Amino acid sequence: MALVTTKELLIDAQKNGYAVGAFNVENMEMVQAVIAAAEELKSPVIMQTTPSTLKYADADYFYANVATAARKASVPVVMHLDHGSSFELAMKAFRAGYTSIMIDGSHSPFEENIAITKSVVDACHAAGVPVEAELGKVGGKEDDLDGGAGGYTVPSEAAEFVERTGIDSLAPAIGTAHGVYKITPKLDVERLSEIRSLVSVPLVLHGTSGVPDEAVKECIRRGICKVNYATDLRIAFTGGVTEYLKENPTAIDPKKYNSLGREKVKEYVMSKMMVCGSNGKG
Ligand code: 13P
Ligand code: ZN
Repeated sequence: MALVTTKELLIDAQKNGYAVGAFNVENMEMVQAVIAAAEELKSPVIMQTTPSTLKYADADYFYANVATAARKASVPVVMHLDHGSSFELAMKAFRAGYTSIMIDGSHSPFEENIAITKSVVDACHAAGVPVEAELGKVGGKEDDLDGGAGGYTVPSEAAEFVERTGIDSLAPAIGTAHGVYKITPKLDVERLSEIRSLVSVPLVLHGTSGVPDEAVKECIRRGICKVNYATDLRIAFTGGVTEYLKENPTAIDPKKYNSLGREKVKEYVMSKMMVCGSNGKG
């Protein structure tokens, strides 16, 4: 089927108490792995690319990969820009055909974050494309984007931010971070519930690789509807390729070693779709 938007997927997830997994894809094999997992579990799915992924190969390449996967699939698929770093990049993805856009102005002061977010919302909403934004700072490093130590979202500011920008989903900072955790993160779930009580749009959890599954489920019970995984897909893919090359040191065919990377990503994505409770919802 054709690509769908996050609006319809996340509203259903919010109504029915589950979340949709959003998986960062960085090559064709990862796209194939994610769609295979979604098909096998009959799960809706979001595939997303960061600015640095779009530097590696531009939005048209990734759009073509994901739109092809969606067309062949029986489950709903979204193509989302993750951590859009400027109005220009958001428009590039929008023009390429992305069906969901994140603008991340969380590194700017509150009023500036509102201004850039609102400008993207105005442009995207004219064509029915929903927008995600971030308030507070998810810490750690997402590719080139360094969130530093992070900074929790202030619930009253979240309400004002949603109201003034007109965004469709909000990523609050509640103690997660991008990249590999050195110690198990402690999430401020009370803060999440407070934010939930003040804003009506679906909430998004960033930095989920390495967060214990039970903690993710608790966040979903408290209002998270989209759960982002990136780092662990890289680890799974690289692990598969490394394993293959260790066992077959003379291998030269990328199709051979990439196949095992693809298989490992599929297994990982399936396990996280079960955590999100999106299986059977597609
Ligand atoms: P990690 O996979 O690094 O935890 O982050 C996922 C994410 O938030 C992507 O935007
Ligand atoms: Zn993120």
